[in-house]
Amino acid sequence: MKFSMEGVVIHLLFCFLFFHKICAAELDIISDSQFLTDGDTLVSQTRIFELGFFRPNNSENRYLGMWFKNISVRTVVWVANRDHPLPATPQLVVKITDSGALGIFNNISIIWSSNTTSSQKATAKLLDTGNLVVTDELFGTIIWQSFDYPTDTLLPGMKLGKDYSRGMEWHLSSWKSSQDPARGAFAWQADTLGYPYFELKDTGVVKHRGGPWRNERFSGISIGRMILTFVIDVVIIDTEVSYSYYIENSTSILSKLTMNSSGVLESMVWVEEIKKWQTFLSFPRDTCDTYNVCGAYGRCTIVNLVEKSCACLDQYRFVPKDDDFSGGCVRRTPLDCKNGSEGFIKYSNIKLPDTKRTWFNTSMSLENCAEKCLQNCSCMAYADTQIRGEGTGCLIWFNDLIDIKVLVPVGGRDIFVRIASSEIGSSSDPAGASDLPSDPTAAKKNDGSKIKIILLTVFPGILLIGFSILLLWYARMKKNNAVQKNANFIELL
Ligand SMILES: *[C@@H]1O[C@H](CO)[C@@H](O)[C@H](O)[C@H]1NC(C)=O
Ligand SMILES: *[C@@H]1O[C@H](CO)[C@@H](O)[C@H](O)[C@H]1NC(C)=O
Ligand SMILES: *[C@@H]1O[C@H](CO)[C@@H](O)[C@H](O)[C@H]1NC(C)=O
Ligand SMILES: *[C@@H]1O[C@H](CO)[C@@H](O)[C@H](O)[C@H]1NC(C)=O
Ligand SMILES: *[C@@H]1O[C@H](CO)[C@@H](O)[C@H](O)[C@H]1NC(C)=O
Ligand SMILES: *[C@@H]1O[C@H](CO)[C@@H](O)[C@H](O)[C@H]1NC(C)=O
Ligand SMILES: *[C@@H]1O[C@H](CO)[C@@H](O)[C@H](O)[C@H]1NC(C)=O
Ligand SMILES: *[C@@H]1O[C@H](CO)[C@@H](O)[C@H](O)[C@H]1NC(C)=O
Ligand SMILES: *[C@@H]1O[C@H](CO)[C@@H](O)[C@H](O)[C@H]1NC(C)=O
Repeated sequence: MKFSMEGVVIHLLFCFLFFHKICAAELDIISDSQFLTDGDTLVSQTRIFELGFFRPNNSENRYLGMWFKNISVRTVVWVANRDHPLPATPQLVVKITDSGALGIFNNISIIWSSNTTSSQKATAKLLDTGNLVVTDELFGTIIWQSFDYPTDTLLPGMKLGKDYSRGMEWHLSSWKSSQDPARGAFAWQADTLGYPYFELKDTGVVKHRGGPWRNERFSGISIGRMILTFVIDVVIIDTEVSYSYYIENSTSILSKLTMNSSGVLESMVWVEEIKKWQTFLSFPRDTCDTYNVCGAYGRCTIVNLVEKSCACLDQYRFVPKDDDFSGGCVRRTPLDCKNGSEGFIKYSNIKLPDTKRTWFNTSMSLENCAEKCLQNCSCMAYADTQIRGEGTGCLIWFNDLIDIKVLVPVGGRDIFVRIASSEIGSSSDPAGASDLPSDPTAAKKNDGSKIKIILLTVFPGILLIGFSILLLWYARMKKNNAVQKNANFIELL
């Protein structure tokens, strides 16, 4: 639509004088003189997001929601009144209330409002990030933002986790169905009891666990014709534990992470050429992602791409409790915790065990970590946290190690498990890695002469690569050794 300048002025004047409503073309702000009715929308400055009322599948229910403005597939990323659907009539208005909150009104009363402390003069603005922000204009402070109330979708720059200073928790919860934004059964939620990680819950029960968080930067991820760099930003401080992501140098790439209504977490990028959302990773990925499927000190491996197999962490130093692994494994020689009677065996390429009962310090060295572990008889294993890079930080497990997955052919992290000295080097595998898909080359990442594989972990806890890519790489690797030298990978933990 093209307006002449004069036309626009007259239009605006008309709107202002007679309706005080948003009838100018594409405003991004609601203030005490501008409000939003049924048919109107707010549009962010560079036309990335749009906010307004929508009716899923032309149902009778209306919701105030936000979607991407400029793509052909209507994709709702946030819903204000997901648990309070509004009937088709009467007319609704979104405006700033007398107390400075953002509210939805019908002809009689207020139906939904942002939960804000009162403010004399507030405005609501839709930003290009997809954040709807209510600002106190007198103090210039943000008093409410939609990013604090995620529905099923994480956008770049949005956080999941906990804000201890405000007593808030950010998590994703699925829609009830693809046509019903009401809170569904599935949630993707941070567990921060020990070292932080994600849990995928089905009606409150933990079904799957993501790996421990770490900061990462993954370049060279190709989606459609785009080559993207994903950056994971983890914050672990006294007042906040949070996880967010963004795509480097790409204001024009649209991406999202959605807990979908069938219980799968999908990470997607919009590919304009095919006018589709392309899922480039999803979680859970296979049966080894089922929580604690092999018991304590058991490890789960995927065979034939679908079937899982359980085994003890290491066949020399652990023995299964039962034939079917239902009870997991135990150390062949129990720990007795006398000075010098124990050491550590390193296991590589694994998804680190559940960190619910752990202690950590993100700045300690790995050497001090080993020492710290030996000093406490309840310590069963240690690893680096990788918040400040590989080999830094200290993560200590006090309980039996559960929910260990083996990542093949490469990927995963290293863990150092406490073992009786008599068992170290006593077996037929002096390398120590035993019957894990041991890969001494992958373990020595700094050795320039060895194969260098860049492991890309976009989302800890999520299998990052499509099987196809993995298989392609695997096939290529077998065929041509040179190819693997610069193989770029996304690792799925
Ligand atoms: C959406 O509407 C179409 C036609 O109106 C119907 O066939 C379809 O089943 C609906 N989808 C859902 C999920 O209700
Ligand atoms: C909207 O999308 C089209 C097609 O991708 C693009 O050509 C156009 O520049 C976009 N407009 C804006 C304002 O982003
Ligand atoms: C509000 O709207 C509803 C539905 O259109 C109507 O039934 C009701 O009478 C209206 N109430 C007032 C006070 O206008
Ligand atoms: C608003 O906050 C109050 C007190 O913190 C709480 O009881 C209420 O449920 C909140 N309402 C919404 C819509 O979040
Ligand atoms: C990408 O952004 C980083 C900083 O975020 C900058 O240093 C770098 O030069 C940018 N690269 C390109 C290709 O624009
Ligand atoms: C959820 O994601 C999975 C995996 O990408 C997909 O097969 C399924 O159709 C999705 N469900 C919905 C409701 O979009
Ligand atoms: C363990 O032994 C080492 C060397 O023998 C000694 O330096 C250290 O103090 C001992 N630690 C404890 C807790 O006994
Ligand atoms: C973490 O480790 C660092 C370095 O060893 C130390 O200075 C710091 O006090 C430790 N913090 C906690 C909370 O233990
Ligand atoms: C060992 O760790 C446990 C769990 O954090 C703790 O309760 C206990 O006090 C520690 N023991 C020593 C000797 O530090």
